Amino acid sequence: MRLGVVGAVGLGLACASVSGMATGEPAPAAVVASAQETTSTLLDGVFTAAQARRGRQVYSRDCASCHGPEMKGGEMAPGIAGSDFMVFWTELPVGSMFERIKVSMPEDGPGRLTDNEYADVVAYIFDANGYPAGEVELPADKAELDKIMIVAVE
Ligand code: HEC
Repeated sequence: MRLGVVGAVGLGLACASVSGMATGEPAPAAVVASAQETTSTLLDGVFTAAQARRGRQVYSRDCASCHGPEMKGGEMAPGIAGSDFMVFWTELPVGSMFERIKVSMPEDGPGRLTDNEYADVVAYIFDANGYPAGEVELPADKAELDKIMIVAVE
């Protein structure tokens, strides 16, 4: 799981540098496909403040015991707030983070939350990392979430 995500990040970075230099070299096909499908970014206000508050309840109940009350991590688990964490996910769709959390977290019972709870907790992670809230909730649907690209916070 983790290796797969790291591989995808590698492709994303390669793509960014290729297009940035405008060398005309073809970007990796997988990256082009996902870039075409995305229609918004995390800076567009893709979750609501109310949703992040719900996610905070989920986080306190199911995640804080390992990741810590401030998401800084600890002996039990890595931090999930701060630039290191978000840089890792930059250029990946939100659907990848949603799915990654859904299949592997909480580590002591993966998949035991509802899809709505997973979407809410992802909204809370974005809120805690400084992304703007907006008018629409983050959908609890991987295909829809794949249309939203994770970018660095401004
Ligand atoms: C029983 C302890 C435990 C609980 C509870 C738990 N996690 Fe984790 N989490 C871990 C450990 C250990 C890792 C590192 C191993 C791995 O990546 O699978 C991790 C990794 C992660 C990662 C990836 C971090 C990275 O840098 O790649 C995310 C995101 C995450 N957890 C989110 C959550 C969320 C959201 C919840 C609550 C729904 C949660 N975790 C609950 C132990 C836990």
